This record gives sequence, C-alpha cells and structure tokens, in this order.
Amino acid sequence: MSGRPSYYVTTPIYYVNDSPHIGHTYTTLACDVLARFKRLDGYEVKFLTGTDEHGQKVDKAAEAAGVSPNEFTDKVSQNFRDLLAVMNFTNDDFIRTTEERHKHACQALWQRLLERDEIYLGSYAGWYAVRDEAFYTESELVDGPNGDKLAPSGAPVEWVEEPSYFFRLSAWQERLLRFYDDNPEFVLPQTRRNEVVSFVKGGLQDLSVSRTTFKWGIPVPGDPDHVMYVWLDALTNYITAIGFPDAESESFQTYWPADLHMVGKDILRFHAVYWPAFLMAAGLEPPKRVFAHGWWTIEGQKISKSLGNAIDPLELVDTYGRDQVRYLLLREVPFGNDGDFSHQAAIGRINGELANDLGNLAQRVLSMVAKNCGGSVPEPGPYNDDDRELLASCERLLDAVRSSMDAQAFHEALEAIWTVVRAANGYVDRQAPWALRKTDPARMQTVLYVLMETIRHLGLLMQPVVPESAARMLDQLAVDPEHRTFAFMGADHALVPGTALPKPEPVFPRHVEPEPEAEKGDNKPEAGKGGGG
Ligand code: MSP
Repeated sequence: MSGRPSYYVTTPIYYVNDSPHIGHTYTTLACDVLARFKRLDGYEVKFLTGTDEHGQKVDKAAEAAGVSPNEFTDKVSQNFRDLLAVMNFTNDDFIRTTEERHKHACQALWQRLLERDEIYLGSYAGWYAVRDEAFYTESELVDGPNGDKLAPSGAPVEWVEEPSYFFRLSAWQERLLRFYDDNPEFVLPQTRRNEVVSFVKGGLQDLSVSRTTFKWGIPVPGDPDHVMYVWLDALTNYITAIGFPDAESESFQTYWPADLHMVGKDILRFHAVYWPAFLMAAGLEPPKRVFAHGWWTIEGQKISKSLGNAIDPLELVDTYGRDQVRYLLLREVPFGNDGDFSHQAAIGRINGELANDLGNLAQRVLSMVAKNCGGSVPEPGPYNDDDRELLASCERLLDAVRSSMDAQAFHEALEAIWTVVRAANGYVDRQAPWALRKTDPARMQTVLYVLMETIRHLGLLMQPVVPESAARMLDQLAVDPEHRTFAFMGADHALVPGTALPKPEPVFPRHVEPEPEAEKGDNKPEAGKGGGG
C-alpha cells in the first residue's frame, strides 16, 4: 500500500435499455471531477462506473430489439463505454453485472444473508413497475390520467404473484434510523436526507429479493428457479469491483467503505435505505456518503424517448467542445438541484466565463509577456499591497475549493475560482501593465509576473473540470507536467524568472453560432468555432 489516503467514488451502473444521454453523463462527470481532484490532492483514488445489465427492463428491451439479452447488453454496454472517452472520464474500472466476478460476489453476499437468517422464502403478491424495477404498496400508487394506477414516478405498474425470497428489511428500521443519526452527512443534500429519514420512520416492509417469472438475472444459490432481484444484484457491484467476497484483499481493505456513491435523486431510496441495510445485515460497513443530484430538463422539457429530445453527449461535445460541456454542466445549477439545459445559457457561459473572463485574461497576459518580456517568465520586483492581495487570494483558494468539493458543491468550487478570476481581471485593469511598458518597465514585469502566478494557480485548480484546457494553460506557462498536483501550489513552487515560454495560443475559443444553411453565401459567415479567447 502507498500510505496515501484513499478515495473510492462510484457512479450508478447504467441500465443498458437506452443510449447514454446528458443525464447519465452528468452523474459520471461529477464523479470524474472528484476523482481528478482527489488524485491531484494526493489521494489514491478508485473511480468506478459500469452497466446494470440484468432484470426485466433490459430483458424486455432486448426482446423488443429482437436479439438475445447477451447480444443486446454487449452492444449497449459498449455505448456507455464509448462515452467515457468522449467526455474524457478517468474511471479506473468498468463493471458489467454480467461478468463472472460479479455473479460470484452476488451469490456470496446472498449466502451470507441467508446464513445470518436475513433472507427467507415466502411468496409475493403486489405491484411492480418494470421501468423503475421497484415494488410498490397499494398506498404508494397514484392515479394516472386514464384512471389507471401508476407508480409515484409515473411508471406503469403490474400485479405480480409469485414465490419469492424476502429480505427482512422491516427488522432494520431502528438500526437504519440510528445509523442516519450517527452519520448526519450520510445522505446529502440535507433535504434529501430528510426524505429518507421520514420514509424509514414511516415503517419498512420486508423486501422481495428474487423473481421467478423471468430468467435474465443471477441465479439464487441452491434455488435456480429464482433469479436475484435486480437491485440487490446491481448494488453489489460496488463491492464486487474491489474484490468481494475476499474482504481481506488489499483493495477491499483500502477502498471499503466507499467514500461516495453518487446517484440521481430517483434512485436514492435504493442506495440510502436498502443498500446500507443489506450491508449491515451481511456484517459489512455501509458507505460513507450517498449524494443525490437533481435532474436535467432540456429547454424546459423532461428528457424522454417519446419526445426525442435526449441530447446525445457526443453532439454536445461536437458543438461546444469537451471541456466546455464539462464546465457548463457543473456551473449551471447548484449541484443537488434540478436544472434546465438551454443552448442560450450554454453559449452565454462559454463566451462570457470561459472565453472572456478566463481565456482573455490568460491571452492578454501571455501575449504581453511574449511581446515585452522576451518570451520568458519576467523577473518580479518588490510587491505592493495589490500584488500581495491577489497572490494571497490564490493561496487561499485551494482550501476553499477543497471544502466545496468535499461537500460535492461544484458550483461553489467554481464560484470560488471565479472570484479570483474576476479579481485578476480587476487587477489587470487597475495596474494597466500596457501603460507601464513605457513609464515603468520594471513594475510592468512585476505585474505580469503576479498575473502569471495567478494564472498558474487557476490552471492547477481548473484541471479537474476542464482538464485539456487547463493543461494548455499550464503548458503556456511552461509548468513542468510533474509539477501540476496541488502540492505545487503556493510561493514555494512559483514560476522561475527567465524560464523560456512557448508562443501563446488562445485556450478557450468563443462559440459562434453557424449561420442557418439558407443564409450562407449572403454574407461571409465567421468560422463555426475559433477566434479570440
Ligand atoms: N441501473 C440503475 C442504477 C443502479 S446503481 C446500483 C439506474 N440506471 S439508469 O441508467 O436509469 O440511471 C442512472 C443515473 O442516470 C441515475 O443516477 C439517474 O438519476 C441519472 N439520470 C437519468 N436521467 C437523468 C436526467 N434527466 N438528469 C440527471 N440525471 C439523470 O437507475
């Protein structure tokens, strides 16, 4: 073992009944940013994602596609894998629930639960929603538009009667409530925590954890007429990937309990109620935190197959650029809240914040250095208060960003960074280095040096969110690639005067809307992307 602290972060595993859209991208993006941040902050990180391939929903999707579930899951799982490169995600493992290692882990967990008398055989009669892969009680159902009964999520329900194994969830009510009390930040945001607590206070029923009416699942050990309930199967992925059932393995010892399961608000109950109960029942520790983020709508509408409005992340990246998409998804809404994606707002942020605030700052400073300092890092003279204040705000930034990241408050982390971006722009205007060129060239060098140090800090801290652009910023400052972790922040690792610099290039291009086809030729269209920045 490395002796470094560890950080284990997971995405939900995605159902392979559908192609990936920005909702899925969002969950994984949040985890990627945390994984990158923690690696730069000296942690040994494991970042897991994957696909949830069993259950009735996937079985039905395969049937509709006219192929076997095996063939179907291979194909759709690959779409999710392909998305990782499109978004520049740095997961350390990709798990598929159809893998042998997972079957082994699930069956071992089942066996433990059975041996501890946490599972018993009975029969189930009740409502089931395939879309949610969830059981509902009569009282939870709501009236649909045609007088039919629907799940609270709006999913259609069907009546199911079959022999089934049950998990003694009802026996876990008090212990779960105690666990939430002892771990006030187990569920975040707080409003979601309150929902979970009141759900559990409302009373828990034993949970059906096996099905007999279809076969696409992991067989129950010793009773192959049953396949495991897909959520028991799916949740187990988080421990499969670190070596369960070998709880003594180095990876299990290093990474369990997980630091964070990132989930959407729709699947919080499974993660914050069922999962800790399964784990405690098996004698394992629950994860440290479950964070439930909000949902995206698109231009005010729910993302849905029937509306055909699901934005393909690939298209978004083609239009705006990879880093730009990463930035705006995390910047646009307070993490935890629902958000609406609008192209107008996206362009506003790309041009206003990335191209103008940050891109122009770097571009202005670096071109001035190229022109007036012989293309190398200038030599600073004595600092005045304005210089010292800007540099101090850079040094304070890591603590602020770290505590926001630890609370999964990405919008806050970015706001803290932007406070310094704006301060730097204010400083440029006040210090007016272009005017100093003639009147006081030594002072100009100091001002440009202070600004370069500021850009270095901003570049270092922006790496998790906009990795490629931040790397280009740091390249232009000739920061050694080995000196880009957070250990290199601060004055001790400041830029060395005299270091030769490469020719400055714009880092964040402005987004210019391409002209509609019909109008082309009337007047010269600007390039689709590119220009200043
Ligand atoms: N397979 C289960 C998870 C099992 S984890 C042990 C599942 N899969 S899913 O593919 O339906 O959803 C995965 C994630 O995508 C969820 O966290 C969900 O909240 C997220 N999103 C799906 N659509 C979304 C939006 N429109 N907006 C934001 N996130 C959304 O559930």
